[in-house]
Amino acid sequence: MAHLLSPSLLSADFANLIEDITVVNKSEADWFHIDVMDGVFVPNISFGMPVIKHIKKHAKKPLDVHLMIVDPNRYIKEFADCGADILTVHYEACTHLHRTIEMIKACGMKAGVSLNPHTPINCLEDIITDIDLVLIMSVNPGFGGQKFIESSLTKIAKLKALIQKTGAKTIIEVDGGVSASNAKIIVEAGADVLVAGNAVFAAADKMKAIQELKR
Ligand code: DX5
Ligand code: ZN
Repeated sequence: MAHLLSPSLLSADFANLIEDITVVNKSEADWFHIDVMDGVFVPNISFGMPVIKHIKKHAKKPLDVHLMIVDPNRYIKEFADCGADILTVHYEACTHLHRTIEMIKACGMKAGVSLNPHTPINCLEDIITDIDLVLIMSVNPGFGGQKFIESSLTKIAKLKALIQKTGAKTIIEVDGGVSASNAKIIVEAGADVLVAGNAVFAAADKMKAIQELKR
């Protein structure tokens, strides 16, 4: 399968979101990556449900929502109601991860689990077949425009091996520091979906940047 691209609106112009949403709609990109930050799990605050609800009205592609918040169980239904298609929670933020995954699926969404750079792959061993998507953070979450952590490549390969060994249908998404110069090695390591914020929205020609990341 050719890899998918999920441009991260965190790097879009929040005062002119419709322009960046339209670029993604018209482009070869596959999903919208939506980063929700609570200022507690990560040292930054982004935006929440009211903004997502409006994005959903214009987006012609699935909303891939990445929650960087503590205790996400509190809001799963709200994110389903405002249009999330894929809902990803952080392993580090969930005490009862299995229950959280079941709640996400019960609300009709695909369930994703994200791992911070320090969190090993083997913590997912007993739950991998229940997860639709694993999001490997290749930077410390909280900000766009950071440098890709090289050891993420080994982690992607380890995760791929776990998925193959268990026969899971889980797909691998990689988030942080992805650019046209490292996209190829990340996909070769086993990524199915690339997230790109700065590489798309800070580019002079966003459409061209998307094309390069898809190639
Ligand atoms: C960071 C977010 C990312 C961010 C990626 O915590 O999860 O989705 O937008 O931005 P870039 O691609 O610029 O590293
Ligand atoms: Zn993200």
